Amino acid sequence: MRVAMSPPDFFSIDYVINPWMDPAAWQHDAAQLAGDAKAGWREMKALYEKLGASVEVQRPKAGLPDLVFTANSAVVLDGIVLLARFRFPERQGEEQENMAFFQRLRRQYAVQRIITMPEGVFFEGAGDAIWDLTRQSFWTGYGPRSSLQASAVIARTYGKPVHPLKLVDPRFYHLDTCLCVLPGGEALHFPAAFDADGRSLLQKHFGKDLIEVPEADALKLAANAFPITPNDVVFGSCSTALEGQLNERGYIVHRVNLGSFARSGGSAFCLTLTLDARSA
Ligand code: ARG
Repeated sequence: MRVAMSPPDFFSIDYVINPWMDPAAWQHDAAQLAGDAKAGWREMKALYEKLGASVEVQRPKAGLPDLVFTANSAVVLDGIVLLARFRFPERQGEEQENMAFFQRLRRQYAVQRIITMPEGVFFEGAGDAIWDLTRQSFWTGYGPRSSLQASAVIARTYGKPVHPLKLVDPRFYHLDTCLCVLPGGEALHFPAAFDADGRSLLQKHFGKDLIEVPEADALKLAANAFPITPNDVVFGSCSTALEGQLNERGYIVHRVNLGSFARSGGSAFCLTLTLDARSA
């Protein structure tokens, strides 16, 4: 597995674009929290590498604290990169960095094509577009960040079915904060983040493989886990009860301290972008 990560050299909470972010609380403890972020990031990268993944590092940039969340830079499937177009001006400066990063990867033949979203269509990458290999389709989130119209662009770009899910709780503003599709075809989800249509769509497609994340876990961003191998899933936080359910299904839970990133509304999945996903 090949993934992209970007180190938290300039990570902090400088602005508020979701309910998790509190610049004053960060400032209160900035040095400690920034140190914890760097340690957690390095630990997660080392764990990925130990488990056999290769990590492409995207250069960090001063003034772009959220560039660490590489899941938001694009979605990549079959070597086709569909770049993000951010809703908030605070993150729009990342778009140019992302373009340059993927152009480098294209020169290295790590990806083949780079596509941009039409003007006016917001799209925040893999954070709102999760590829489901088992069902050969995308799950997309829309509302707080990505536009509903992004789903049609994704369907056209990859020639795959797309299931749009409306996100109704401002704390779960990206799909990857409330849905995690696992390599064996199961999904972790936090039901209250979806409307009734979304909940029944998930139920219909996943059936008994739909695992409910308890609210206490969801509020620690447990659904934002990253499956780095077919059996190893990396969490910023996971209760022993949730871990037990995952163990029963053959998964190993790894925990890394990503608490500083949770203060920004992100955890393991947000900090990671899959570069080599294949549709078949
Ligand atoms: N502070 C960032 C934002 O609000 C966090 C992004 C987390 N990324 C994610 N894929 N959920 O945009």
